[in-house]
Amino acid sequence: MSAPEALIDPFGRTVRDLRISVTDRCNFRCTYCMPEEGMKWLDRVDVLTFEEIQRFARICVERFDVDGIRLTGGEPTVRAHLPVLVDKLAQLKRANGHTPDIAITTNGSTLRNVADELFAAGIKRINISLDTLQRDKFLAMTRRDELDNVLSGIEAAKAAGFTPVKINAVVERGTNDDEIVDLARFGRDSGIEMRFIEFMPLDAEQGWSTSKVVSQDEIVARIAEVFPLEPVPQRGAAPADRWRYLDRELGTPGATVGVIPTVTKPFCGDCDRVRLTAEGQFRTCLFATREFDMRVLLRNGASDDDIANEIRAAVGTKWAGHQIGQVTFVRPARTMSQIGG
Ligand code: 5AD
Ligand code: SF4
Repeated sequence: MSAPEALIDPFGRTVRDLRISVTDRCNFRCTYCMPEEGMKWLDRVDVLTFEEIQRFARICVERFDVDGIRLTGGEPTVRAHLPVLVDKLAQLKRANGHTPDIAITTNGSTLRNVADELFAAGIKRINISLDTLQRDKFLAMTRRDELDNVLSGIEAAKAAGFTPVKINAVVERGTNDDEIVDLARFGRDSGIEMRFIEFMPLDAEQGWSTSKVVSQDEIVARIAEVFPLEPVPQRGAAPADRWRYLDRELGTPGATVGVIPTVTKPFCGDCDRVRLTAEGQFRTCLFATREFDMRVLLRNGASDDDIANEIRAAVGTKWAGHQIGQVTFVRPARTMSQIGG
């Protein structure tokens, strides 16, 4: 294997993290993501096979030294035999002989059944979505009565050995912003990092407006009123800014809380991510309006060199950042579930 080449975009950022959506399907219908009915799913033949995904990931890892892979959806655990894919990805080796770090973002609803198997297959880190601790509100936000399953899924993830387990909550004003402190308390009590996410304009029903965004500053202020906080020094490419509870020591479970300020304080300058959708479209930004068709290459006899060239070309078009809130912002034609979180 020749020495890896750094994959550097026009703004000098190095790509290190590949997010792979393994399915566009989901067993939830979160209001900030999907409509209740009428989502059009991809045909099975259009979804990349595990072999195709593994090949694409291998090229990213071997040629460009990508060191992090995150599986997303839709809901990744609804893809049949997901552990088989994880096992294939866990066999990839970087030039230094290390395996890339494999993570997953899930709604948690199936974890009580699959957490052990996913961990054994090689996933080390997990992010679980939980936007509310109230059963009625959970039903209203996800359109599924699955709060208890998600709570037991969180326990199953902890028991399986994932480290860290993180919980993501999208905050929407007027819907769950009254629960910011309760969710923070839940993270402290469960020994888990709670991460709040500013609501982004990626919902199918186009209900997003700036008035529904609760800013990072406001989220932090509300928590700090009850649990005093201090910022944790900066974090590189991770999207969350983090705070430590003053009554907890850094490094102990549940000592920190994170906020992902996509809208009010874009972290595009540190972005090291690229994405592959379930049907093999390569995107250099969540909000990109252009995609690069890798499936056509994977299925039409392209060589690894051809695919590497297309990856390099795509990264060469990566922009400085999204422009949410500005008049120049163009909403991507896809929802979060079609891109992958
Ligand atoms: N704004 C912010 N976060 C979103 N997610 C899905 N849709 C949105 C949105 N419109 C989050 C999910 C999950 C991750 C995959 O993306 O809650 O945590
Ligand atoms: Fe499913 Fe995640 Fe979208 Fe909710 S946000 S509908 S869990 S893909």
